[in-house]
Order: sequence, then structure tokens, then C-alpha cells
Amino acid sequence: MGNAGRRCQWNLGWHRGSTTSAEDSEYPHGFDRGVLRGGFVGQTDWAAGVDTTRAHAARVYNWMLGGRHYFPADREAGEKLAKITPYFPLASRANRAFLRRVVSFLAQKGIRQFLDIGAGLPSDGNVHEIAPQARVVYVDNDPVVLAHGRALVAPETDRVRYIGGDARHPEEIRYNAEVRNFIDWDEPLAILMIGLLHFISDEDKPQSTIDFFRHAVPPGSYVAVSHATCDGFTPPRSAAIAEVYRDTVSPTWMRTREQVQELMSGFPEMVAPGLVYVPNWHPDKPHQGAPAEVLGVYGGVATVPAWIAG
Ligand SMILES: C[S@@+](CC[C@H](N)C(=O)[O-])C[C@H]1O[C@@H](n2cnc3c(N)ncnc32)[C@H](O)[C@@H]1O
Repeated sequence: MGNAGRRCQWNLGWHRGSTTSAEDSEYPHGFDRGVLRGGFVGQTDWAAGVDTTRAHAARVYNWMLGGRHYFPADREAGEKLAKITPYFPLASRANRAFLRRVVSFLAQKGIRQFLDIGAGLPSDGNVHEIAPQARVVYVDNDPVVLAHGRALVAPETDRVRYIGGDARHPEEIRYNAEVRNFIDWDEPLAILMIGLLHFISDEDKPQSTIDFFRHAVPPGSYVAVSHATCDGFTPPRSAAIAEVYRDTVSPTWMRTREQVQELMSGFPEMVAPGLVYVPNWHPDKPHQGAPAEVLGVYGGVATVPAWIAG
């Protein structure tokens, strides 16, 4: 992580001063579950070998978004997180809204191919819906995501593919046969890693993944990220969040802004306004509901100029 200073570590006794996080706020979770389209794929279609008794990031996130693709263990983890940080569901939706704005921004820039790594379960505003002229490869390492995507989304359009892949092994994603055939690697594309990198530990080198794709794509491409942060949370709150995730299939590593910026340090330039709290990235309406910083998610989009592209 280079010379990044403060880190999102839990027992070091650092304190960021203000505790203006959502400690005493109302529980803002009154959304209508079931607004998301798409039914739940019959469990027998995919559940063999999947431990549904342990929460998984993809399904906890789906619960947060008000979706239907989750099991009791996922809901329990979601409820614990929303108790620790009542704005968690709002943060998930802010992250999803960031994804939508990024995709539509890039579509307006002429991007017609997206590699969406850590795609998550189908939800409202999937990438191929926001960019209806684009081809999209959705990548995830969760078989439940792949089963749902292949059953609910892929039959509707020939513009998408779902492939299994692990962001910790970017070369396997890049050289996957579907990815090679479906994406034209001579044309600019966007690599999306939205809500993904905090599931990759320092030991698993998230920076290597980013660097790999920075060199793999042609000039004119973009790399978009969003990342959970402990900035704005008290250390006990950060520790409590990490503890809930530790019991899931998907432990999490929140990072400070400095650390996330460091992950993007190989890019000479980011689209203005750079790496910011996600509600502040090209907002299309005034942000409401909670100060951006208590949502705890940074996001940004980097450009790939000719001199660093592969
Ligand atoms: C919080 S969801 C984000 C979904 C979507 N990108 C969004 O922002 O709305 C994170 C997704 O990353 C996936 N994931 C976690 N670690 C991964 C890894 N190492 N490789 C690929 N996918 C991963 C999870 O399965 C989950 O579907």
C-alpha cells in the first residue's frame, strides 16, 4: 500500500476526532422490498454446494438494496450491519446510483463495452440497461450471482455474458474465452470494479488487479471503482462492521481515502472531481438523506491515456 499513512485498522487506537456518524440517527430502512424486478431463481437450480447458512456479500448487498435474492443468514448479517450503521442500506443504494451515473457518463463518452467485475446479483439499473448500445461481460466469483444472471438476464439479451472469475486473478478474467471473444480489446472499454475492492485484502494485492487492467486495455478506456471506507466512522464502529463481515463468506477490508487513492496511483488522471464520496460524483439531483461522508463509500473513474495503455 505504499506510503499510505492512516489505515482502516481496528485495534490501533486511532481516533478521527468527530463521531458525527449515524450513531443516533433514525433507521432509514423503510423502502419497499420487492420493488426490484425478477423473481428468485428456484433454489434447486443452483444451491448444491452453496453454503446458504453463511452470509455472502452479494446477497447481503441485495438485501440492503431491497431485493429478494437473499437467505436468512444474509438478512441477519444485513440487519446487524444496519444496526451498527443505520445508513448502510442508503449507502448501498448510493453506491448503486453511482454505478448508474458512471455507466451513463461513460456511455455518453462513447464507451460501448463494459467488463463489470464483482457485478453482483441482477438488480435495478444493470449496466446493459443503462448502456443499451453496449456489450457487457458480468464477472463474479459467486456461483449464486452467475446462476441468477444466466437465468434472469442472459435470456433477455444477446448483449451480455456472465462468467465466473476472481478479481484476485485478473489474467484469468482477461484470457477467459468468452471475454476474449465478446470484448474487442482493440476498442476502448470500461473496467468496472464497483463495490468490489474492499473484499480484497492487502495480501491479495488489489493494486495488482487494477494495474493489470490498466495495462491490458487500449487507450481511451476507463477504470471505475468504488470502495468502502472507515473514514467518518469511529474505530469501534469500523471494528463492529468488520466483525460482521468476518463471519460471512466475504470478509471486508475498508480503506481510507488515502489508501484508495494509492490503489489508483498508477493512473495519471481521474475524471473530475476525482475520488470522492459517491453521492458527490456527478450528482444528477441534490443528495438527500444523510451527509455523504456517513455513507462511507468513495468512488471515482480513471482514464487510460495512450502512453500507459497496453
Ligand atoms: C457489494 S457487491 C457489488 C455489486 C455491484 N458491482 C454494485 O456495485 O452494485 C460485491 C460483489 O463482488 C463480488 N466479489 C467479491 N469478491 C470478489 C472477487 N474476488 N472476485 C470477483 N467478484 C467478487 C461479490 O460476489 C459481490 O457480488
